[in-house]
Amino acid sequence: MRLLGKVAIVTGGASGIGAEIAKVFSSEGATVIIGDIDDELGSAVVNSLISKGAEAMYSHLDVRSERDWNRMIGHTVERFQKVDVLVNNAGISGAAWHMKLDIQAWDAVMNVNIFGCLLGIQMVIPHMIDLGFGSIINMSSQMGLVGSTSTHPSYNASKGAVRALSKGIAVQYAKENIRCNSIHPGPIDTAMASDIFKNPDLMSGALSKIPLGRIGNTCDVAYGALFLASDESSYITGSELVIDGGWTAY
Ligand SMILES: NC(=O)c1ccc[n+]([C@@H]2O[C@H](COP(=O)([O-])OP(=O)(O)OC[C@H]3O[C@@H](n4cnc5c(N)ncnc54)[C@H](O)[C@@H]3O)[C@@H](O)[C@H]2O)c1
Repeated sequence: MRLLGKVAIVTGGASGIGAEIAKVFSSEGATVIIGDIDDELGSAVVNSLISKGAEAMYSHLDVRSERDWNRMIGHTVERFQKVDVLVNNAGISGAAWHMKLDIQAWDAVMNVNIFGCLLGIQMVIPHMIDLGFGSIINMSSQMGLVGSTSTHPSYNASKGAVRALSKGIAVQYAKENIRCNSIHPGPIDTAMASDIFKNPDLMSGALSKIPLGRIGNTCDVAYGALFLASDESSYITGSELVIDGGWTAY
């Protein structure tokens, strides 16, 4: 019960890493609010948490929409009185790179991966200041630290921005007892990375870069998020938790 009594919002919690974070947080005693654009999957995750006796709520959230954030946070505070933890996990990988700047592809990735993240932080901070406590966890990527031949550079740029944004927020709000950290997963077995798993060349290329010799699973990331959400990490802010099997250690 490492999160007993805590209220945690997880964006992109309908599938993949976000759904695993929601499950792990819930099993550790947190009340979990999932915000996602996939209402069917998101509600299914919440219903499965409730069926195990947990407190949970689903709210439609497009992270690019201030109105959606207002509604979700309003309902959360009305029903559960506070927000202790925000996990900005929703993200998209974007289009393939064809050596040409496509402004629409750039905007699509930036709007979800970095603008959506900042919008959520801006919305939740006043409640965390009132509470005198907060842990914000932003999902970056190992692609926010290094480059790759198979990733659209706008994805690298967005995830690098998530890393720097986290440090900025950490420094600005430390005096309010609000911590902010980024997580940097390597390839994790979810729908987002399925192109890698389907393509033997991409798969062997990825594995050759991972000293631990395997693709990560969603639990590998969820337990990192659990640590950053819990009071066990109360002296950690502005840090990068890299969960990549050693990819970036090369
Ligand atoms: N899977 C990987 O290999 C990997 C590696 C590094 C980082 N990440 C990051 O982890 C996070 C989760 O990725 P995943 O692998 O679980 O992918 P996923 O596609 O399984 O899940 C992403 C979730 O985000 C939601 N989403 C997308 N756009 C949204 C929006 N505008 N508003 C609200 N929700 C939205 C989707 O509906 C989905 O539920 C992302 O930020 C991703 O960049 C993933």
